[in-house]
Amino acid sequence: GMMKEIKGIDIKERLLAEKLGIQKAIIVPGNTDEQESVKNDLGKETASLMLSLFNGKNTIAVTGGSTMAKVAEAMIPHHLLSDLLFVPARGGVGADLNNQANTICAKMAERTNSAYRTLYVPDVVGNDMYQSMIKEPSIKEVLQQIKSANIVLHGIGDAITMAKRRETNESDLQKLKGACAVGEAFGYYFNEAGEVIHRVQTIGLQLDDLEGIQHVVAVAGGISKAKAIAAYMKRAPKNTVLITDEAAALKLLK
Ligand code: BG6
Repeated sequence: GMMKEIKGIDIKERLLAEKLGIQKAIIVPGNTDEQESVKNDLGKETASLMLSLFNGKNTIAVTGGSTMAKVAEAMIPHHLLSDLLFVPARGGVGADLNNQANTICAKMAERTNSAYRTLYVPDVVGNDMYQSMIKEPSIKEVLQQIKSANIVLHGIGDAITMAKRRETNESDLQKLKGACAVGEAFGYYFNEAGEVIHRVQTIGLQLDDLEGIQHVVAVAGGISKAKAIAAYMKRAPKNTVLITDEAAALKLLK
């Protein structure tokens, strides 16, 4: 039969959510790869979705990245009598302070007149360091708050782009390439089938923790991230809401 032409963005949103097997997809026009303003729009859409989720007491675990930084910029004080606490989902990523989860949490808290915590740990930690750090009282407290988060807000990255940004060593980089890593989220690297092929050991939220969380919001746009989004969504919890752009959406719907 003849394929019906699909026009409305709302129809695309429904088809995309269905195809990815997630709760909901929100699509903003354009292509983040080509226009910085589209990343701002992703930020604005996400900020308004967040507002609708806030009521009563919420703990929001947030990852880093340039997309999350745009979400922070777009956040506004909320009207409801909400009690918000922003916590970094995991240890810091890379050298760019502006894109670190700690910085983004502080900014989200400032913009919404709410509270935040900081996690003073490096992105990658060795096993001995890991074991002793999680016993440190100030870190332990933040870890408990992370584990009690009811909202997770995160980015998704292209695997190799993220590995380079993290200054991943040559042998891990070869491992990622050899196993055809395409996507990355929370320091976990995924192949096209959504299998974890590598992970950065750091403290904070782990992939399995996502299952029990009330709201999971993923934000990623640009054609360059389409494969990464598809891969991660194979593993994502079903209650995920994805905010993406039209360019990535069209590629994902093909
Ligand atoms: C971070 C996540 O939020 O954003 C990473 O921790 C993700 O897992 C990254 O890959 C994407 O960054 P950007 O700059 O492309 O938004």
